[in-house]
Amino acid sequence: MTARLIDGNALSTQLRSEFANRAAALKEKGVTPCLAVILVGEDPASAVYVRNKVAGCEKAGMRSIKDVYGPDVDPSVVLARIAELNADPAVHGILVQLPLPKHFDSEAVLESIAPEKDVDGFHAENVGALVQGNPRFIPCTPYGVMKMLESAKVPLKGAEVVVVGRSNIVGKPMAMLLLARSCTVTICHSQTKDLAFHTRRADILVAAVGRERMITGDMIKPGATVIDVGMNRFSSGPNAGKLCGDVDFESAREVAGAITPVPGGVGPMTITMLLANTLEAAERCAK
Ligand code: GUN
Repeated sequence: MTARLIDGNALSTQLRSEFANRAAALKEKGVTPCLAVILVGEDPASAVYVRNKVAGCEKAGMRSIKDVYGPDVDPSVVLARIAELNADPAVHGILVQLPLPKHFDSEAVLESIAPEKDVDGFHAENVGALVQGNPRFIPCTPYGVMKMLESAKVPLKGAEVVVVGRSNIVGKPMAMLLLARSCTVTICHSQTKDLAFHTRRADILVAAVGRERMITGDMIKPGATVIDVGMNRFSSGPNAGKLCGDVDFESAREVAGAITPVPGGVGPMTITMLLANTLEAAERCAK
């Protein structure tokens, strides 16, 4: 069997054109949706993500503000800027790109963002709302995965789901969203004793670990849906330096029923759902 591809680029294009219409409708009411993005430090991957987020806003007819700080900036400077953005009624969403440099207390920074502008959904208040099943902002990557599962018509009720990875950004919120859709969810992580034992039981397998091609075809149940959240680079071989996921695509596609590619799978959906959250925040303001 060769797996069906779940195309994140195609779904993103469709959703983003709907967003452009919603942004235009808001502008007619005098509200231009605006996302403020803060980047601290010189991590090249973060710089690319931020550039793509800003470009995504512009293409959808939304405004963006980009503040870049050097790696040694005093955290108080960033906190003061967040306070300013919190108070600015023209700003609807605020995002601080992670990871922050080591001398930052990341949790304190995330908690300083006004919950109603926290379009990443990382503030404790928004995490609590998600766990209680009444989310205000859904973290963008797992939100994008849910949209992909829905568009691919993957049955969720009662499905055995294994999420590999327990980060606050992907693994934990992913598990909560799938639980809310009546999946039976297992979360695996670096201390899991027999990872393949769990992954081979999964009807839906979500890989969000950040390790090059660690999920191989022999770890996948035949016909399963495989969602690859990884964004890594081949460390060696003919493709060295090119993007790859947490899943070994070539072996996995022979076993899985459906699979997301890297690139062109979950990646574009993350920014798409950031735009969705920003638009949502602006629409709430316009009410
Ligand atoms: N770093 C990696 N993924 C994300 C994300 O979704 N949001 C933010 N703010 N930083 C990230």
